[in-house]
Amino acid sequence: MILIDTHAHLHDRRFAADRDEVLARAMAADVQGIITVGTDLESSKKAIALASRHSGNAIEPRGPVVYATVGVHPHDASKLNPEMLAELERLASEKPVVAIGEIGLDLYRNLSPPAVQEKVFVEQLELARRLDKPVVIHDRDAHTQVLSLLRQVGKDWQGVLHCFSGDEEMARQAMSMGFLISLAGPLTFENAHRLQAVARLVPLERLLIETDCPYLAPEPYRGKRNEPAYVRQVAVRLAELKNTRLEHVAQVTTDNAVRLFRLPPLG
Ligand code: NI
Repeated sequence: MILIDTHAHLHDRRFAADRDEVLARAMAADVQGIITVGTDLESSKKAIALASRHSGNAIEPRGPVVYATVGVHPHDASKLNPEMLAELERLASEKPVVAIGEIGLDLYRNLSPPAVQEKVFVEQLELARRLDKPVVIHDRDAHTQVLSLLRQVGKDWQGVLHCFSGDEEMARQAMSMGFLISLAGPLTFENAHRLQAVARLVPLERLLIETDCPYLAPEPYRGKRNEPAYVRQVAVRLAELKNTRLEHVAQVTTDNAVRLFRLPPLG
């Protein structure tokens, strides 16, 4: 069985002390691929460096293959200037980079002004389309605005709504625009009724799984530091909700990730 954690922040300093152990536990949990996601220029560079060190060409002991994304998160949107956008474009062409992200809108914490978030989101969406890269979308309390900006910029998207928090109607609309839906730790929470409904509605062929680690650990690790191995808990819960076997969930969601991010075959 092969699982892919399609959204991790493995380059985060919270993994600095024990990253090798974290990778070993991921491998032991069948997590053979990890996408480590940049949130600003600095972390995008760290993501690339980490992915380069775990590119699958390495010798024993065999561990997960790590890929990177580059992007500026809405929290950091006010930092982005034209020179940085050019730098981001340059980084996007580096070998381990499989997507532009995470980008989007966060109207919950509003750490950058909404108008700035929108401008920076659109600039990066246009960059992704110019470079023919999939997009990793962050949407917190901004469902309507995110969908409407995506519609403005283009159609037939290649991308994923990461850590999906919308309802069934939003999932339908996103799928009709070409997006995959990615489910994270909150799916395992007992009261996640809306997410459970989304998981039942969306065909397995349109779903990805992720941790968003170090944040949002699934049950039974809720409240602790999250890590890629725990994506298995998301897969287990998804298999229950889909009334299918874990192996089937693993196979289909891994195929989906390989296709979206154009990864070489794993395993
Ligand atoms: Ni994230």
